[in-house]
Amino acid sequence: MSERVEVLLSEEEVNRRIRQIGEQISKDYAGKNVHLVCVLKGGSFFMCELAKRITVPVSLDFMSVSSYGGDTKSSGVVKIVKDLDESITDKHVIVVEDIVDSGRTLSYLLEMLKNRGCKDVKLCTLLDKPDRRVVDVKVDYTGFQIPDEFVVGYGLDYDQKYRNLPYIGVVKFD
Ligand code: IMP
Ligand code: MG
Repeated sequence: MSERVEVLLSEEEVNRRIRQIGEQISKDYAGKNVHLVCVLKGGSFFMCELAKRITVPVSLDFMSVSSYGGDTKSSGVVKIVKDLDESITDKHVIVVEDIVDSGRTLSYLLEMLKNRGCKDVKLCTLLDKPDRRVVDVKVDYTGFQIPDEFVVGYGLDYDQKYRNLPYIGVVKFD
C-alpha cells in the first residue's frame, strides 16, 4: 500500500489566515502582553508563524502532553510529558494548538492552566474538526474548520512524518 498527500489548504491560504489571526489577536490584546503556550510538537510551526504576526509584546513557552492510553480515552486524562518552564501567574495566556479533534486534550489542558492563576486563557487552533468533538471546548481563534479527514503538514504528522510540509494535506492510501 502506497501513501500520498493531497493538498487541502495551500501554503498561501494557510499563511494568509495566520496573518489574519495575528492581526485579530493584536487588536484584542492591545495594550497587553500575550503569553503563547505551544502544545508540542504539532503546534510549533503554527506558533512560530503566528508569533511573527502579533504586534503586541509576546512571550513564549512550550509544553508536551500525551494520553495515558487505555481507559483514559473516556476519562480524558492526559499526561504532562514536558511542563512549562515559566509560571503563568497573572499572564494573558493563549494556548496554540495544531488541531482540535475530540477535544479531550484541550479540555483537560485548559482546565489545568486555568488553575494556575493566569489572568485568562484562550485557545487558538490552526485546524478544527467539529464533527469529531466528544468533549465541548471553547475555541477562541480558529484557522480553518475542516472535514473529518486525517490531515498532515504544518506541524501535523502521520507516524512522525510530514510535519515539515508547508501546507495542509490529506493522506491517501492507494
Ligand atoms: P484531541 O482533540 O484530544 O482528540 O486530540 C487532538 C490531537 O490529536 C492533536 O493535537 C493531534 O496531535 C492529533 N490529531 C488529531 N487529528 C489529527 C489529524 O488529522 N492529523 C494529525 N494529528 C491529528
Ligand atoms: Mg497536538
